[in-house]
Amino acid sequence: MATRGALFYYSGTGNTELAMRYVAGKISQASVDLIDIRAARGFDLSSYDFAGFATFVDHGGPPQLFIDFMGSLKGCRGKPAFILITYGAMPGRTLKIIERLVIKAGMTPIAGHQLNTPENFVPMRVKGTTNDDRPRDADIEKFKGFVSDLNDILITISLKGDLKPRPIRIGILNSLIPQHDRRKSKKKMGPLIVDKASCIGCGNCETVCPYGAIQMDGIPSFDDSRCYGCWACYNRCPTQAIYTEKIRGEGHYKEPTERLRRALSY
Ligand SMILES: Cc1cc2nc3c(=O)[nH]c(=O)nc-3n(C[C@H](O)[C@H](O)[C@H](O)COP(=O)(O)O)c2cc1C
Repeated sequence: MATRGALFYYSGTGNTELAMRYVAGKISQASVDLIDIRAARGFDLSSYDFAGFATFVDHGGPPQLFIDFMGSLKGCRGKPAFILITYGAMPGRTLKIIERLVIKAGMTPIAGHQLNTPENFVPMRVKGTTNDDRPRDADIEKFKGFVSDLNDILITISLKGDLKPRPIRIGILNSLIPQHDRRKSKKKMGPLIVDKASCIGCGNCETVCPYGAIQMDGIPSFDDSRCYGCWACYNRCPTQAIYTEKIRGEGHYKEPTERLRRALSY
């Protein structure tokens, strides 16, 4: 049976959430719950028939928060699971790494897809690689094909109980890309700074920080030992008051582009 699904996503600036919302809206024969993994550590999947996991690519692999979340799941043994990632320029081996996490948790991988979306990694945007023209029309078609195949697979599992692992392919080029060391992201970013004059004390940075590295005391204070350099606070500060020694006032990616929204509307 595959009639109830838990669809998890981790999204820094909205691309992945949008993509997973699209999938959720298109799964036709099952009821699904869409769940932000930031509020789902230790989630028990016992009452679900299948799961879906979506995240963005972070230095050639899944973000640390996602890895920790996968290790915390309960009640998932024997359930089918699909994987969706969004990426700016190079997904590398991320899908395969997540496939291993799925198997390690005792689940059966049934499908995987990588969707090319705009780049939200600030240093890349500052260099000019924004990829705001992504996804291309061909990417959108492939993504829609993936969702349609996923529906067929879920129907097959539901009707025939035919649950077998379906290996996820990423192509030679991606498999050659080494996974970067995520800890370098924070090192390269350097300490975060707040411009007191433009900070409005809204606390958005504290809310969007996935690692609990920000505390508001009128203005944000940053715990660099907890920060993974994901740039969510920088990207989503409404007044661009957060900056670093190297980058200030440029390269922001606050939310999905109009093109991406249009592509993933349903
Ligand atoms: C810290 C960080 C590291 C990233 N590393 C990569 C990468 O190695 N390869 C890549 O293609 N995109 C990389 N990206 C870009 C994101 O994966 C991409 O823009 C994604 O769609 C963002 O999804 P979100 O809006 O759901 O957060 C990185 C983004 C961040 C914030």
